[in-house]
Amino acid sequence: MSSFSTQVAIITGAASGLGLVIAHKLLNEGASVGLFDLNEKALNEEFVGNLDKEELIGLDVTDEQQVEKGVARVVERFGKVDILINCAGITGTTGIKSHEVDTMNLKKVFDVNFMASYYTSKAVLPYMLANHYGRILHIASIAGKEGNAGMLAYSASKAAVIGMTKVQGKEYAETGITVNALAPAVIRTPLVDAMPESQVKYMTDKIPMKRCGTLEEAANMAAFIVSHENSFTTGFTFDLSGGRATY
Ligand SMILES: NC(=O)c1ccc[n+]([C@@H]2O[C@H](COP(=O)([O-])OP(=O)(O)OC[C@H]3O[C@@H](n4cnc5c(N)ncnc54)[C@H](O)[C@@H]3O)[C@@H](O)[C@H]2O)c1
Repeated sequence: MSSFSTQVAIITGAASGLGLVIAHKLLNEGASVGLFDLNEKALNEEFVGNLDKEELIGLDVTDEQQVEKGVARVVERFGKVDILINCAGITGTTGIKSHEVDTMNLKKVFDVNFMASYYTSKAVLPYMLANHYGRILHIASIAGKEGNAGMLAYSASKAAVIGMTKVQGKEYAETGITVNALAPAVIRTPLVDAMPESQVKYMTDKIPMKRCGTLEEAANMAAFIVSHENSFTTGFTFDLSGGRATY
């Protein structure tokens, strides 16, 4: 893969888990990065190495105005935005059936997982259109493809992300911008550790490889998806599920 050294990437949820390793991967490959996370303290603790290439922004991705300002700040600092990777996400309450779901909790999950990915993509697209180039990656989930019992809010919000990816892929197919998603199964992060163990067992038992994915596997695949070389695939949800999904 060619280097990311002339590229500018925005990564949400960069203070933890997948966002953290993907941000470090792109930084190591030479990218300049604008990193968004609600947890500004963790962001500042995790990224102290290369301040020439890092713009650390504590913001709530569910606030459209904060997202617009954050994107504008990155473009002001680095001159453009080539890549957007939406990693910020929450599960909401899990291990419950649909009749037990708290509606406010479901709405919160949709706000973070779906609405925020819509806000960030809406904010970066005008800059990408002006440059005739862009790579957008929404981190979805196997839960959005398959539906995990006990996880209505999460599964439905990720299915919405997959739906948006299909639409956006087609809408910008002739512009030099690709929009794809990634659907991981279980990767051990704080998001998974916060779930009931029975829910995590339900998900991992379904993985034919009988193991969780690694952060390195997620970072490598994400880097390929947003690379220049990945130029003839758009609107697609890449699989990272150890064989659970074969489509
Ligand atoms: N870990 C897995 O097994 C797994 C599997 C499938 C999909 N995913 C998806 O991958 C993405 C990353 O998950 P993770 O496991 O790294 O989780 P994580 O909890 O380790 O990291 C998520 C980050 O998002 C940030 N965040 C949450 N709400 C925010 C908000 N409103 N504004 C700004 N930042 C916010 C958190 O502060 C945190 O740093 C999520 O979208 C998740 O649904 C994870």
